[in-house]
Amino acid sequence: MSVPQGEGFVLRAWRSDDLDALVQHANDEHVSRGLSDRFPFPYTRDDGQRFLAGQVVDLGASVFAIEVAGQACGGIGIRPGHGERSHGAELGYWLGHSCWGQGLMTRVLAAYVPWVMHSGGFTRLQASVMDANVASARVLLKSGFVEEGRLHAAVNKRGQLHDLRLFARLDGRQS
Ligand SMILES: CC(C)(COP(=O)(O)OP(=O)(O)OC[C@H]1O[C@@H](n2cnc3c(N)ncnc32)[C@H](O)[C@@H]1OP(=O)(O)O)[C@@H](O)C(=O)NCCC(=O)NCCS
Repeated sequence: MSVPQGEGFVLRAWRSDDLDALVQHANDEHVSRGLSDRFPFPYTRDDGQRFLAGQVVDLGASVFAIEVAGQACGGIGIRPGHGERSHGAELGYWLGHSCWGQGLMTRVLAAYVPWVMHSGGFTRLQASVMDANVASARVLLKSGFVEEGRLHAAVNKRGQLHDLRLFARLDGRQS
C-alpha cells in the first residue's frame, strides 16, 4: 500500500539530511514534556543522529517524518505488539511547536490510522496520554479513539507523577 497523504503535509521515511530540522523542532521543552524519556530535553544533535540511525526506535516501514512546506517538522509511528498482542500496536506522534493548533495532527491521524491498521493487519491501535496533555487526548477523540481508562501515577516525568489515559481504536472485527 502506498504511503498515506493529506492536506498540508507529506508523510515519508526519515532521511539523514533531516538532522537540522529534527533538532530544531525536537529541542523544545513544550514538545518533550508529553513524550517518553526516549525523546529527551535538551534534544541534541547526537540524539538526532542516533534517532536517524534507527538506534532509538525501529525506523520500520510505518515510521514517518511529517513534512510541512518541505521540512520535517514532526513524526508519527507505531510499535507493534508481539505474541498474543501481535494484533495490536501502540501509536506515537509529535509536532514541532510552530505547527501546533492548526488541525495538522488531526489530519495526519485521519490519513495514517486507517492506513496503518489496514496495512499492518491490526485490529487494535492504542495510545497512552499523560494526564496534562489535553491536546493529544482531544486529537485522539477526534480521530475515532475511545478512552478506556486511566493508569494512576504510572509515569514519573521530571520528578512528578502523572496518570496515563489509555485510548484505543478498534477496527470493528474485534469489538
Ligand atoms: C499533541 C499534538 C500532536 C497536537 O497536534 P496539533 O496539530 O496541535 O493538534 P490539532 O490542532 O489537530 O488538535 C488539537 C486539539 O486540541 C485542542 N487543545 C489544544 N490545547 C488544548 C488545551 N490546553 N485544552 C483544551 N483543548 C486543547 C485544540 O483546540 C484542538 O481541538 P479542536 O479541534 O476540537 O479545537 C501536539 O501538541 C504535539 O506534538 N505535542 C507534543 C508531543 C505530544 O504530546 N505527542 C503526543 C504524545 S501522547
